[in-house]
Amino acid sequence: MTAAKTSRRRRTAIKLRQRSLASRKAQHDTEERLQLALTATNGVGTWDWNIDQDLFVTDSRFAQMHGIEPQLSGQLPITAYLQGVHPDDRALLTRTIKDCVTRNGEYAQEYRLQNLDGKVRWIFARGRCFSGGPGSAQRFMGAALDITERKKTEQALLNLNETLEERVAQRTQALAEANAQLQREMQERERAEEALRHAQKMEAVGQLTGGIAHDFNNMLTGILGSLDLMKRYIAAGRITEVGRFTDAAVSSAQRAAALTHRLLSFSRRQSLDRRPLDPNQLVSSLQALFSSTKGANIDLHVELGEDVWAVNTDSGQLESALLNLIINARDAMPDGGELVVRTANTYLTDSQSSTLEPIKAGEYVMFEVSDNGAGMTPQILAKAFDPFFTTKPVGQGTGLGLSMIYGFAQQSGGHVSIISESGSGTRVRLHLPRYLEKTQA
Ligand SMILES: Nc1ncnc2c1ncn2[C@@H]1O[C@H](COP(=O)(O)OP(=O)(O)OP(=O)(O)O)[C@@H](O)[C@H]1O
Ligand SMILES: [Mg+2]
Repeated sequence: MTAAKTSRRRRTAIKLRQRSLASRKAQHDTEERLQLALTATNGVGTWDWNIDQDLFVTDSRFAQMHGIEPQLSGQLPITAYLQGVHPDDRALLTRTIKDCVTRNGEYAQEYRLQNLDGKVRWIFARGRCFSGGPGSAQRFMGAALDITERKKTEQALLNLNETLEERVAQRTQALAEANAQLQREMQERERAEEALRHAQKMEAVGQLTGGIAHDFNNMLTGILGSLDLMKRYIAAGRITEVGRFTDAAVSSAQRAAALTHRLLSFSRRQSLDRRPLDPNQLVSSLQALFSSTKGANIDLHVELGEDVWAVNTDSGQLESALLNLIINARDAMPDGGELVVRTANTYLTDSQSSTLEPIKAGEYVMFEVSDNGAGMTPQILAKAFDPFFTTKPVGQGTGLGLSMIYGFAQQSGGHVSIISESGSGTRVRLHLPRYLEKTQA
């Protein structure tokens, strides 16, 4: 061998050594980078299983996860690692690994690990099986990730959803119960209202039978008594003296007829015979009747408004309404007092609250009858318009006066209101709508 050849060989050997050193360094760097990356992820462990020799090489993270000492890496069979798997998942995991090895394919599996102290952790493993080429073994390698925290969050969400449904169901149930309770209470109230209405109806019927039956009885007694006396006088041949008893019987019968007339007019609400009339003229024409009705110790003042508008109404009904008010005032002042009858033009607004019913705003003529007599307590005032309500002794009042005035006012498109205070007196106002004559063509 020449010296030149020898030196060439030496150079080649040096180059080869240098190249091998460089490639070993590169490999070392790569591994170091990989290890650093895996450490940085802090949950990933790797394995490399030499299937032919059944030697399981792992990094320390994978070993720790599976409860194996890291130094034993590469010295134990795979079964040692499977020991750490939760008993319920072990069979499934074994099957999946076998399948992957048989297929020489991909692997992805979730499974649980159970520590010696009983704590359970969830793992997600992903890997691949590589067929060993000629001279090299079949290998199965991959990485495992601890997904316990994610699983916990998932489970918590699941629980929340489940309890949410339960909570919604509970709330729905509570609402249904509250609703049922409300329905029961409403039914109960309806029953109570119905009972109250019935009681009020019976009270009104009672007042009717009580008041009217007494009045009729008095009138019948007058008629029967007179007839009886007439019979006796005729039997005794004193026919000339019978005249006064017939008069008494006729007067009683007429009072009875008048009462039935009032009852009928109240119940049927007879139609009004309307005509335009001058309120002041009507009141003036009644002044004499008012004076004779009021009684001696009561002072009567009539105050007629200026240019009072016309009204279109039934004069007979209006007269009897005013007369009723005069009689009421008189009865409220047994020891005398002052009685004032007024007429005036007024404008009513719909916010006026002294009447029971809503008011149509507009121009009205007011007829006012006021006294400074006994007045009414709030309880009496509340019932004053009720038909058959009276505080007067049996036979002296039917309790129909104010109720008829109320009906009349309603039918005329007007209103009636009472202001009264016990001990001070009463003021009754009857408002009838202004009559506007249609302009002639
Ligand atoms: N001016 C008044 N002062 C005090 N109380 C009154 C007055 N007007 C009416 N009342 C009370 O209102 C009740 C009802 O009056 P209403 O005119 O309807 O019937 P009445 O006067 O009792 O009987 P009737 O009018 O049939 O003779 C009266 O019984 C009385 O208690
Ligand atoms: Mg009366």
